[in-house]
Amino acid sequence: MKRICALLALLIFVLAATQPNRTNRGRTDLMQGKTLYNNQCALCHGIEGTGGKGPALNLPKLPRAATPSALSKVIAEGIEDSEMPGFWQLNEREVRQVAAYVRSLGRVQNVKVTGNAARGQTLFEKQCANCHIVSGKGGVTGPELTEIGISRSAAYLRAAIVEPAAAVPEGFLVVSVTTANGQRLRGVRVNEDPFSIQLRDAANRYHSFRKAELKEIKKEFGVSTMPSYKDAFTAAELDDLVAYLAGLRGEK
Ligand code: HEC
Ligand code: HEC
Repeated sequence: MKRICALLALLIFVLAATQPNRTNRGRTDLMQGKTLYNNQCALCHGIEGTGGKGPALNLPKLPRAATPSALSKVIAEGIEDSEMPGFWQLNEREVRQVAAYVRSLGRVQNVKVTGNAARGQTLFEKQCANCHIVSGKGGVTGPELTEIGISRSAAYLRAAIVEPAAAVPEGFLVVSVTTANGQRLRGVRVNEDPFSIQLRDAANRYHSFRKAELKEIKKEFGVSTMPSYKDAFTAAELDDLVAYLAGLRGEK
């Protein structure tokens, strides 16, 4: 009997000691959420939610997941008719953990944009507008940026400027082809099906090839046709540009 009592006491002690207190549990949830996120979500949404194939998640407000319950629902059930899958395999607790981590990304992001957007706009119009449309004005070599502040975080935008190859959006895959008679051409893939491929070259000319007539098709993943501006701007100018881009949220 004495022995059993001692065992019981020990058991209660162990249970009490391993029961985490509230803040500890919050921190554990966040860490587990981060691990789940990196394994299941980062592929599309980027490490730390900077965006990629899916939209950036490190924003103070997510249009499709504005409330905690909407966020959990998006994670558990996905978004219909989109590439956002439902995560049926996650249990309720895991969904809550990932959601907590996603919300923490938005809080960090909130404080980061420090530049002057008006100065950024002047730089943009001089150096970037020849390749990018904003609100109907600009060139078409790069993607339109009119709403870029909604879908990309400040960290992603900064990377897109200094290291374009780190942030190549869907639809801008660089491909080089060699024709049967040895002619070579490099461009951005506009379209591709099992039998043909269409490219747009650096001078904005379109080229269409039948695959059967090509000797080689080389897809250059992680390569960008956008020039790097790594050393083109001072740190302050870069902040200004990022502030301008982050504020582009559609026509007012
Ligand atoms: C296969 C790619 C892919 C994976 C994996 C993925 N997502 Fe998504 N996600 C998307 C796409 C694409 C969208 C945009 C869908 C739309 O709005 O049409 C999206 C949208 C979202 C949104 C809404 C964002 C907004 O702007 O309102 C949230 C939140 C989200 N995903 C969270 C997650 C989380 C958390 C995970 C991991 C558990 C995850 N996603 C995994 C592709 C993915
Ligand atoms: C010679 C044409 C060209 C110029 C000049 C140019 N870009 Fe780009 N940009 C591109 C192309 C092409 C892409 C898509 C491929 C990629 O991201 O590498 C792109 C992608 C981007 C993206 C990523 C968009 C997304 O949806 O992920 C941002 C942001 C961007 N550019 C900003 C800028 C800024 C800011 C400048 C000026 C400092 C600039 N670009 C100058 C061609 C250009």
